[in-house]
Amino acid sequence: MKSPVTNTVSSALGVDRESTLMLRADEYVARARPWPGEPGTVQLVTVEQSAPPTEVVARWVEELREAGVQRIRTGALGPSVRPPYLECGFTVRQELALLAHELIGVRASVVPCESLLLQRGRRADLVALSIVDRRAFGPLWAMDVAGIADACNATPHHRLRVAFEGAEIVGFAVSGRAGRNSYLQRLAVDPSHQGKGIGRALTQDALRWARRHRCTGMLVNTHVENETALGLYRSLGFEELAYRLMVLERGLR
Ligand SMILES: CC(C)(COP(=O)(O)OP(=O)(O)OC[C@H]1O[C@@H](n2cnc3c(N)ncnc32)[C@H](O)[C@@H]1OP(=O)(O)O)[C@@H](O)C(=O)NCCC(=O)NCCS
Repeated sequence: MKSPVTNTVSSALGVDRESTLMLRADEYVARARPWPGEPGTVQLVTVEQSAPPTEVVARWVEELREAGVQRIRTGALGPSVRPPYLECGFTVRQELALLAHELIGVRASVVPCESLLLQRGRRADLVALSIVDRRAFGPLWAMDVAGIADACNATPHHRLRVAFEGAEIVGFAVSGRAGRNSYLQRLAVDPSHQGKGIGRALTQDALRWARRHRCTGMLVNTHVENETALGLYRSLGFEELAYRLMVLERGLR
């Protein structure tokens, strides 16, 4: 294997100035983006689906350390891609349940009240969506505008559905399709509007969309202790899979 080469596309900008670092080694590519609201922390996400080997992860860790990064956090990793990170000193930060729906018996989305409207999201909505996301998930796990855009671009096709209560944006869902597989990538309802059926309507809308496009399954993940989301997904026919995803992290001090 050739020695990994990092192409710091925007290294001149520095991590502390909201830049994204592109890390490359042979066919492996990863993006390290500042974690919103946590200076010095980056999220490391591989761009290709392939899992980098230990020596590549180790090299990226060193390059990020040299770039002044203090903490690296991964995306949600499945069991087969975790070992190289664990071998490089990463530990489990968050455990996520993975649930699957076979898209059988999907019902029409029931909009819970007349004043609620589900509409296609636009680029201009992204700032408002990031505010809803932050209120729903809290500052540590919130997605900023770039994160929501990433969730939309993670698959060849996506659906961004926004829930309006009058003129106010009160929730949204990002769903994605790749071939016959579909994913509920993000779901958030503003805390002041939770418990009114909006999350259910958005999830049913996502399931219907995937079904309409002849997908054979939908996956969603959520924190193992998120009883509200787990209750919602189970009540709509999702079933928990045997294995879990994990967000790993490593401090670099
Ligand atoms: C999860 C979330 C999207 C649900 O949205 P919501 O609009 O509040 O949910 P709904 O009003 O549609 O309720 C849907 C179902 O959730 C479940 N639910 C709600 N509160 C619950 C609780 N405290 N415990 C268990 N299940 C609960 C129920 O099944 C409920 O259906 P029911 O009212 O018919 O019993 C919302 O709470 C949220 O944004 N949470 C923070 C972000 C998040 O966790 N996103 C999804 C996981 S990645």
